[in-house]
Parts: sequence; structure tokens; C-alpha cells
Amino acid sequence: MSRWPKEVSAPALRSPLPTLASTTGSSSRLLSSGGSFPGPVWLVGAGPGDPELLTLRAWRCLQQAEVVLFDRLLDPRLLAEVPVETERCYVGKAPGQPGIGQEAIHRLLIDRARRGLRVVRLKGGDPYVFGRGGEEGAALDAAGIPWQVVPGLSSALAVPALAGIPLTHRGVAGNFTVVTAHRAGQAGATQTTDWDAIARLDTVVVLMGVSALPWVVSRLLRHRHPETPAAMIERGTLPGERRLITDLGHLLQDAALGGIAAPAILVVGDVVRFAATSTSTASVDWLPTPGLWKQLPGRCA
Ligand SMILES: C[S@@+](CC[C@H](N)C(=O)[O-])C[C@H]1O[C@@H](n2cnc3c(N)ncnc32)[C@H](O)[C@@H]1O
Repeated sequence: MSRWPKEVSAPALRSPLPTLASTTGSSSRLLSSGGSFPGPVWLVGAGPGDPELLTLRAWRCLQQAEVVLFDRLLDPRLLAEVPVETERCYVGKAPGQPGIGQEAIHRLLIDRARRGLRVVRLKGGDPYVFGRGGEEGAALDAAGIPWQVVPGLSSALAVPALAGIPLTHRGVAGNFTVVTAHRAGQAGATQTTDWDAIARLDTVVVLMGVSALPWVVSRLLRHRHPETPAAMIERGTLPGERRLITDLGHLLQDAALGGIAAPAILVVGDVVRFAATSTSTASVDWLPTPGLWKQLPGRCA
């Protein structure tokens, strides 16, 4: 017997989204409820960094925000999308440093929403991929605040893609997994990930893996050949992005030599071979230029 209540319904909007028309002029910005009604709060995914990779819906939310709570890894250019009068609250946490804490973030969200302000909680990538978006949604539910999630392009997908690495490829990789190495291998850490199972999958994408890299590599090597291709992409899509293409057997040494630092994504699997041969580029300089595609034979001609 199922433990879950059986329910089939159309997705309910927890709060109305701003309409495209309502962003067309400053006079048409939604009026704040001035404290009569709470919120709404939008839990917005900002994508991997480059503001070009923001969704249209996220951009609309930013344009209409009266308060923005943002994290550490966000590209400052994203805040340029926010009206000047908007309150900007940094709630990030640097590795190894105490942040303001998750409970304090919940309190801040609830406080600003109860003042009747439109609140954007801006998070890197997608709010529901290692982003604690679920916890913040639950806290808002408990406080009776209307809210909605605005999915973002996760770094787990976008950063490898822009490095020329397809996570799946017919005949090469028929599956991929995204796993966090946060606190991996540390004494006392709750371990819910079956790393033996993970290591056997075709493509393994590891987030938050820089400090635990020796542990992660040793676990993957239990089931993967040392010549398995591996890539680390540091600050993907952001100014100063760096890519290391190597193999599992040399990864530790090469990452140390290159001084790879967080934020970085590790991709392990045969699909990484495509990065070496791809002529794709992360640079957006030429993407929007009409007609340039035609100068590149074999691409979208
Ligand atoms: C707390 S997780 C948040 C992930 C985010 N919610 C997402 O969907 O992309 C942070 C980790 O994501 C990865 N990451 C996020 N942005 C990145 C970027 N621009 N380049 C490389 N890795 C990135 C790094 O592994 C970083 O340690």
C-alpha cells in the first residue's frame, strides 16, 4: 500500500508570477501590498554564473524585486538587473567561514515577505540542486508565505556543456549522475551516497569536490580505469574560467599543479574525450552575432 496520498492535479501557482507586460515600464511595476499581504517570495535559480544564462522568468523576477537575498558565487553583473532602490542582502557563506546560517536566512525571507515586499531569493544554478531551495520553500510554507520556485540552469549541466562535454552521447554514455562531495569522507559526515554504485555509471558529475578530491578519486578508481578521461572546470561561464582535461590516474597531480580551486565541477567518463576535440567555445562574444553561424561550416548553416 502506498504511503503517499494519491492526488492528480494541475500544478497550482503558489503566487502569481510577474507578467512580461508588467516589466515594460517603471510605472507598470507591480504595486507592493504595503504589508497587507505577505510576499510573494520567488526562489530564483540564477544559472551557472554568466548573466546570459539567466532564464527570462528569472530576469522578470529580478526586475520586480523589492528585496534580493543573494549568495556568494553569484556574478555581480546579475545584480545590475535589479532596480536601484531594491534592498540587496548578501547571505552567502565562504568555505570554512561561518555564514549567517540557514535559520537566519529563513527569518529574513519571512520578515521581508511579511512586510508585503516582493522578495527574490537568488541562488546559483538551480535552487533545487544542492541549493537548499526545498528547505527554504518548506520554511515559507510553514510561515504561510506565498512563494514560487523559478528553476535555473544548473552548473552541473551547463558548465560541462560549455566546455564541449556532452553528458550523454549515443554509444558512449547512456546515463549520468550528479553527486555532491560536500563533507565526503569526513569523519562524522552523514553518508547517503553509494559511491561504489556511482563509480560504475557512465558519466559522473561531482559538485563541491575540490577539497575532497583525493577521497573522491580513490573511490572512483575502485571501479574505473586510471585512463578514464576526467575534466575539472573552475569558475565555469565566469570571467577567468579554467579547464583541466586529464585522466583519473593523473587528476590529483594535475589539479594540484594547476591550483584548481572552488567553485569547480569534476566530470569523469568517456564523454570527456569530446572536450579535447570540440571547437566549441564558452565565449559568448560571437553567439548573438547574426550571420556568423553561416561562416562556420557544419554548424547550424
Ligand atoms: C552549493 S552547490 C550549488 C549548485 C547549484 N545549485 C547549481 O545548480 O549549479 C555549489 C557547487 O556547484 C558547482 N558550481 C556552481 N557554479 C559553478 C561554476 N560557475 N563553475 C564551476 N562549478 C560551479 C561547484 O561544484 C560548487 O562547489
